[in-house]
Amino acid sequence: MSHVIPSHVRLTASLGDITRSTLDVIVNAANESLLGGGGVDGAIHRAAGPELLEVCRKLQGCPTGQAKLTPGFRLKAKFVIHTVGPVWHGGANDEPALLASCYRESLRLAAEHGCRSIAFPAISCGVYGYPAELAVPLAVFTVRDALPHFPGIEHVEFVCFDAAMFSAYQRALAT
Ligand code: AR6
Repeated sequence: MSHVIPSHVRLTASLGDITRSTLDVIVNAANESLLGGGGVDGAIHRAAGPELLEVCRKLQGCPTGQAKLTPGFRLKAKFVIHTVGPVWHGGANDEPALLASCYRESLRLAAEHGCRSIAFPAISCGVYGYPAELAVPLAVFTVRDALPHFPGIEHVEFVCFDAAMFSAYQRALAT
């Protein structure tokens, strides 16, 4: 299916560490406690500083597929959106709908807070075991599908931590 995305909107993939992003908001692949963890979550908490955990404690967690916003503290990004991807259990447990919801809810929160640019990691593709060959096209499709509802967002970047993920996003963005 093709999507009608306004021509000023850029969807890009990059290779690197999302904590160094200079976009308005970065998305964290968190867990339901929102109290930190490993992977990109651990990296974001380390880079943002201890104030991030303090505000996260007050949020009282976040259900899978939903998202919550905090300041970025010591990050260059103004905000962090914490979303909780599904744990991969084979694909018949609502994983695709929940992962799509993470992308949509993050875009919605970003738009509500006036963000023009947003950086996503490959949500659920690490510890949570979602196969990248399924998650990447779903991420690109969902973002393209949702963007017309959020006209303030001008740039969406998929930040990849390794070359294989970067190629997967480049392929998905080229189709
Ligand atoms: N920048 C960009 N991407 C990164 C970075 C980084 N600094 N570090 C890792 N990645 P994961 P999940 C990539 O495991 O699967 C945490 O403990 C990584 O290579 O961070 O959603 C949470 O607290 C992979 O492609 O998140 C949860 O308990 C992607 O980010 C759980 O892990 C996601 O990997 C969430 O698991």
